[in-house]
Amino acid sequence: MKSIVILISGRGSNMRAIVEAGLPARVAAVVSNRADALGLDFARSRGIRTEVVEHGGYASREAFDAALAAVIDAHAPDLVVLAGFMRILGPQFVARYAGRLINIHPALLPSFPGLATHRGALKEGVKIHGCTVHFVTGDLDHGPIIVQAAVPVLAGDDEEALAARVLRQEHLILPQAVHWFVEGRLVIDNGMVRVNGMPEPQFLFAAA
Ligand code: GRF
Repeated sequence: MKSIVILISGRGSNMRAIVEAGLPARVAAVVSNRADALGLDFARSRGIRTEVVEHGGYASREAFDAALAAVIDAHAPDLVVLAGFMRILGPQFVARYAGRLINIHPALLPSFPGLATHRGALKEGVKIHGCTVHFVTGDLDHGPIIVQAAVPVLAGDDEEALAARVLRQEHLILPQAVHWFVEGRLVIDNGMVRVNGMPEPQFLFAAA
């Protein structure tokens, strides 16, 4: 069975969605850059090994990345999942896990990379927003797209309402992408992701 390491920084609801999806994969560890990340409690309650690598304890980004990689590598995972992990990872880290590092981003990339995506979507007046799971490359919130989910932006939405609508879809597409990965279905071909023997489409549309 393939093993995965999940990186979080806070609430950890995406990590929880992966765990609760009951995928044919072993969650070897949940790693946080914050000791007070709420998601750690959930992982512990499920008997999952947790690790904390606090970014504040390192003099440079490179030193933090190296410490994080050492903790991850001790579990020899097939896949590393960034599930609400709020630190930018440097090029050496990204290269080390090329093809086995995925991220969930709360926007329809390539629109709205970075932070405050829901605020940006409301400010621009987009009518459709959503979330993306993608392989990680050296560019922030960029890389071969595995799956996306779209939701409407409704009149009267505030950031909180829109974030909640998007989050419900995050909880569907992230476990889906992990499932495809651990089944060995994902192929990156010329920067595009193909899902071999794809049982479901690489997009979701949610009515609300
Ligand atoms: C999610 O919206 C994720 O896409 C974003 O931060 C949020 C983390 O939520 N990067 P959680 O920690 O998974 O609950």
